Order: sequence, then structure tokens, then C-alpha cells
Amino acid sequence: MATATTTAVFPLLLLFAAAVAVPSSPYLSPTTLFQNYQKMLTNFKIFIYTPAKPFTFQNPAASLFYSSLLNSPFLTQEPTEAHLFLIPFSPETSTRSLARLVRDLRINHPYWNRSLGADHFFVSPTGIDYSADRNALELKKNSVQISVFPVISGKFIPHKDITLPPVNLAARFISAVPENASTSSFLGYLKWDGKTESNFVEELRKDGDFLIDIERELLDPVENVKNSKFCLLFYAGDVAWMVEAMALGCVPVVIVDRPIQDLPLTDVLRWSDLGLLVAARGGAKRLKEVLNDVSEEKYNVMREMASAASKHLVWNEEPQPLDAFHMVIYQLWLRRHTIRYARRESF
Ligand SMILES: *[C@@H]1O[C@H](CO)[C@@H](O)[C@H](O)[C@H]1NC(C)=O
Ligand SMILES: *[C@@H]1O[C@H](CO)[C@@H](O)[C@H](O)[C@H]1NC(C)=O
Repeated sequence: MATATTTAVFPLLLLFAAAVAVPSSPYLSPTTLFQNYQKMLTNFKIFIYTPAKPFTFQNPAASLFYSSLLNSPFLTQEPTEAHLFLIPFSPETSTRSLARLVRDLRINHPYWNRSLGADHFFVSPTGIDYSADRNALELKKNSVQISVFPVISGKFIPHKDITLPPVNLAARFISAVPENASTSSFLGYLKWDGKTESNFVEELRKDGDFLIDIERELLDPVENVKNSKFCLLFYAGDVAWMVEAMALGCVPVVIVDRPIQDLPLTDVLRWSDLGLLVAARGGAKRLKEVLNDVSEEKYNVMREMASAASKHLVWNEEPQPLDAFHMVIYQLWLRRHTIRYARRESF
């Protein structure tokens, strides 16, 4: 996402860029994405080791991802044709048991040693810890971790790990974006959980430009979104709502006091054109400055891009083309080229 300073420091540059070429796609690589996606559909093969014992995920995104994968055509029974290997384990597994699990893979199967786990991945909704044990450390540092957005700082390794978009059931029924936001009566709308950043929210409440909806009041979010230009979200709060806001054509503004690198589909979506990151420590005043700095043209592009991107963040019971399940698989496909240390018995 564009940081506050980028928007504030280079307004002329942004205007110039908008006049020359308005970005017409929410994707980082629009020219290769769909071609590469097709190749994934026909070629991608994943091998799953047999889990030590049956288990389930309580987290809805992890559960949907795992069950969708088990029923998908990407699985193969033949490890020699697999691009990647999934190590299944219960979310309750201790670090010690994980270490034992990896040690067994290393000894009993030939695949771990080829890349020391770099062509392996695992699903852990909250992410795994660092450990001094060699086996657990290799799993943490080399294998691809799939967890649920947002991930606690320190449990996510950028460029290697992947996050699952949170499940938002309402978002999948939104097909049309409300026409225009030019008539919005509010600058920002916050669907508040009643807890997060209460001092900051108190400041927003006093400012008539913001609409604060404490969830318990059960106001109609769709009506509120139609009346607001931006949708405010706390990184530590209810991020699942981001998908619905985007689908409704509300530009998401994530409020967080540190850089974040675990946004879902970060290899696919051009987040800097879809939303904004703003620090809470600047208070309501700074937030208003940042939001008011976004030009009308830039805003309309962001709104369009956010709504176009939202369909890739939506989960379905039965996976649909280009939905959250397929885009996460696509991110795995992008990680299939790992260095394999060829085993040479003799020279
Ligand atoms: C993998 O390498 C380790 C040494 O790090 C060795 O002990 C183990 O036997 C190897 N595994 C296989 C299947 O050859
Ligand atoms: C959209 O904006 C145009 C002018 O910019 C206005 O005439 C029209 O009524 C608006 N539509 C809605 C649904 O607000």
C-alpha cells in the first residue's frame, strides 16, 4: 500500500503519472499472470505426506484451504512428479513434535535433503516459532509457511511465506459496486469492534467527517459504505471486513504503526493502488490530511482497482476460478523453482 509520506511528498508526481498512464489493472504483472495461471492449472502437482493422525483446522480459512486442496486436481500420489510437498500436521503440534516430524522426513524419505525443505510447505494458521533445533529451524527458514492474515510479527518471513485471505461470507454475494462515491457525506467509515485503539477512535468520533459504527449497533454496513469514501480498518482488528469493503467499492485504509509485509496475495495484487496504510500515532488529524491528499482521479482508480481485486480474496465452498483458493495455489506455483542439491553418488 502507498505509505502516507509517498502520497504527501509527491502529489505532483502522482498527478503527472495519472495524466500519462492511469493504471488499469490491480495486478503486479497483468501480462504474465493469466498465462502463468493457465500453466498452473494444467501442470501443478503437489504431493502430501500421510499425516501422523487425522486432524482438523478450527480456523475457517485454513480449513477451507486444506479441504479444497485435498479435493483438488493438484494432488498427485506420485512424489517424483511433484513440484512441492505438503507436510500436514495439526495446529496444536508442539515445536518438539514438529522437530521429530521433520527428522523422520529427513531420514525416511529422499525429498527433504534435496533442498533441505525448500520445496516443502505447511499450513499453520498462526505461524510457527523459531527454534534452536536443526529440524524445526530448517522447517521455519526453508519451507513455505501458509498462515492466516494477519500474522503476529516474527512469525512471518516475507517473500517466502504466504497468508490466506480471511473468510468473509458476505463478500461473495456482492456482485455490483455502488455507482459513485462522489456524493459521500463521510470521509471515512469505521466498523469498530469497541476495543481496538479506543483513544484514536475517540478522536475520530469527535470529528464529524467520520462515521463510527460500533458493531453492536447493527447499522447496515452497505448503506454506510455508500455514504463514505474510505473504509478504515485496524490491522489488529476485524480485517475480514476489508474484503467486503473492497467489494463494495470502498477504498481500504489500514491503520497500523509498523510496516506490514503479510498482506494476502502480495505477489499478485498491486496493493499500493488499492488502498492506503496510515499510522495511528498521527491521530485523526494526520489521517484526515492523508485522505484529503488523495486526488479525485487517484481515488476513482483506487476504488475501481479495490473492487476488481476483491474477487480474488473471496473463498467458496466449491473453489471457483481465480478465487482465494486458486490465488493462494498460484502463489505456491510461483515458489516451485527451488534449488535442489542433486545427489551425486559418484563423480
Ligand atoms: C539426509 O541427510 C542426512 C544428513 O544430514 C542423513 O543422515 C540422512 O540419512 C539423509 N536422508 C536420506 C533419506 O538419505
Ligand atoms: C453519480 O454522479 C453523478 C455526477 O457526478 C450524479 O449525477 C449521479 O446522480 C450520481 N449517482 C449516484 C447513484 O449517486
